[in-house]
Amino acid sequence: MIQKIVVVGAGTMGHGIAEVAAISGFKVGVIDIAWEFLNRAKERITDSLNRLYEKGQLKERPEDVLSRIEFNISYEIARDADFAIEAVPENLELKKKVFKTLDEIAPKHAILATNTSSIPISDIAEATSRKEKVIGMHFFNPPVIMKLVEIIPSKYTSEDVVNLTVDLAKKMNKIPVRLRYEIPGFISNRIFIRLLQEACREVESGEGTIEEVDSAARNKLKLPMGLFELADYVGLDVIVDIWNVLVSRGTLDVKCSLFKNKVNEKNLGVKSGKGFYTYPSPGKYTKVQLPAESKIDPARLISLAVNESSWMIENKIVEAKDIDTVMIYGFNFPKGLLEIADELGLDVIYNYLKEIYNRGYEAYKPTALLEKMVKEGKIGKKSGEGFYKY
Ligand code: 3HC
Repeated sequence: MIQKIVVVGAGTMGHGIAEVAAISGFKVGVIDIAWEFLNRAKERITDSLNRLYEKGQLKERPEDVLSRIEFNISYEIARDADFAIEAVPENLELKKKVFKTLDEIAPKHAILATNTSSIPISDIAEATSRKEKVIGMHFFNPPVIMKLVEIIPSKYTSEDVVNLTVDLAKKMNKIPVRLRYEIPGFISNRIFIRLLQEACREVESGEGTIEEVDSAARNKLKLPMGLFELADYVGLDVIVDIWNVLVSRGTLDVKCSLFKNKVNEKNLGVKSGKGFYTYPSPGKYTKVQLPAESKIDPARLISLAVNESSWMIENKIVEAKDIDTVMIYGFNFPKGLLEIADELGLDVIYNYLKEIYNRGYEAYKPTALLEKMVKEGKIGKKSGEGFYKY
């Protein structure tokens, strides 16, 4: 039975995951390399708990939840842990070091999970002597609000460990989506990066401004944030890391340098106070102001992400409803991406893909599945069938 969870890394994701675990009644240990980071995490957790308490969304008093969390720069607090979740920066060597230490200190039965968004779980598992007990457990920012957790077994993970992790996610009041096997970027970030790549391409090729693209995302697609705004919120360094990993592991690239340029300028988004937009201070997010009108077509904006989705369906990695669950609970979409695609018309999306592909963007080549659907007249809601039947 899982009683104590340790979280390694007290940053944006780590502090939020620790908070969720403590709210769900677990004993929690938080480990980082310096007290400065731990104190900051404690402040952020306290703020967040107070906000939830004031709205009546917390059953206990914030101080009671906090009393279950211990903070330390020593791994000794992992000695009685049943489950560990690593949330340190996306660097394989660093993660291997963390896993090697956890493997030495945590009890033999403990499961070691990683919140990585891009590094192969199997590579991380190889740093331990318990490869079958290492798994991916991918949370979404902010973890206390976002319902989704992707569960990713590596090639070594045992079925028991997968089931225990799915169970734990449910106990943490989350909605787990289990991948059958690991693919780079999992479901979430494959789709997310495709959305950002098309947004980037549109801006770089002069089809619209950053604000117009974001206005279309927020006002036409009804997403909670614009796409560049969301990238700022997640961290532009994180976005570029995921983008690079996807490309280095075989995903066709879309040449576009807006994101990389921002990172080179050290403008990392909300965390540094400036990215595509400017924020009140580093780490403080406020909603960005966007124009009400935009010439950007939402069907074009989602076209590449829909093509990526159809690739995953075609390759039997997931079903349409899994993709929609991920987008609704991981990104707070008002409805699923493929439901939106069906509404906007798969013929429209297909034509956009072909047009951009013909201009030399290889990644936009419509998949065989999408082509077949369009040829058979399964073009979405208006025809009675698309990704779903109506
Ligand atoms: N703790 C407690 N409450 C919080 C909170 C936190 N950390 N963050 C936000 N809230 C609460 C606010 O208090 C507010 O409550 P209220 O409605 O009762 O006043 C509510 O959430 C809404 O917050 P805001 O008013 O500040 O702003 P928004 O309405 O824009 O909501 C948001 C913020 C929930 C973050 C929303 O914009 C959203 O859903 N954005 C999309 C987030 C997303 O897509 N995340 C996934 C990113 S991808 C990822 O993480 C994967 C990685 O691998 C890249």
